[in-house]
Amino acid sequence: MSNILENPKAELHIHLEGSLEPEMLLKLAAKNNVSIKYKSIEEISNAYKFNSLQEFLDIYYQGMSVLHTEEDYYDLTYAYLTKAHQDNVTYSEMFFDPQAHLARNIELGTVFAGMTRAIQDAKNNYGINGSLIPCFLRHLGENDALKAFDKLMDYRKYFIGIGLDSSELGYPPGQFKNLFELARKEKLKLVAHAGEEGPANYVWEALDILGVDRIDHGNAIHSDQELIKRITKDGIGLTMCPLSNKCLKVVPDLHYHQTRNFLDAGIKVTINSDDPSYFGGYANDNYQALINDLHLSDKEVRQLMQNSLDVKFK
Ligand code: HPA
Ligand code: ZN
Repeated sequence: MSNILENPKAELHIHLEGSLEPEMLLKLAAKNNVSIKYKSIEEISNAYKFNSLQEFLDIYYQGMSVLHTEEDYYDLTYAYLTKAHQDNVTYSEMFFDPQAHLARNIELGTVFAGMTRAIQDAKNNYGINGSLIPCFLRHLGENDALKAFDKLMDYRKYFIGIGLDSSELGYPPGQFKNLFELARKEKLKLVAHAGEEGPANYVWEALDILGVDRIDHGNAIHSDQELIKRITKDGIGLTMCPLSNKCLKVVPDLHYHQTRNFLDAGIKVTINSDDPSYFGGYANDNYQALINDLHLSDKEVRQLMQNSLDVKFK
């Protein structure tokens, strides 16, 4: 009997910078003369222990500082798409953080050139399709996001939507109303991380103020029956990331993960890897973790995969 994990699926929540494996991090640091505090893969693995989203983000921004040239962005993207293909991901919508690269004086042209060439080569070599979704860093506020959005417009044809990520608590989605209005006028798809560490109220704001098409994470909606009804009625996709939630202590352990409750409520839940090199696995590792800990049935796993194909943007 074939393994259910071999079935085709879409991945809709993966940060390319979070797929930077320790080997590549060390290689690029040496090549680009970036001093990092780690000397070995073992030291890096030991540092990847987090108690919160912020502890992870501090290490994640340091890690991506080794990315400098078009070739680096190509290698990062191609390596991820190779892993995704091995997991029978047939289509992936990939996040990246333009402001984190602009802050290091890397031009968006360099970032897009490497990423788009890798997407094309992966399509030719594996048949996998990919799209890009730049995300804005909430901790930098809306003005900085608007400046980056302006620069991104020179590359409009290379991405399909925008997202919102980084530190959540203290940065409610409503603060980015103008940005999302502009993006909507550009016919971009809209997503936002909400309800990962933040409350259900942030998910309401993402829906009602930003008008998002999907919610990234959304764990907090379990506490709000009205919100669950709304998300179900509107067919809003939820891109959940179990191994990320476990590593960042969003759930005490995966026996408590909300996937089954949300599936039972009729929500279009999907399973994704978020930052696979930091959280211990790619798409199929996330499905497998839930099969192990929630004892998901084949029917439930099939539904999760079907949801990913239903709520993808292309
Ligand atoms: N949450 C917020 N920002 C992020 C994440 C996340 O899980 N991963 C990368 N940036
Ligand atoms: Zn994320």
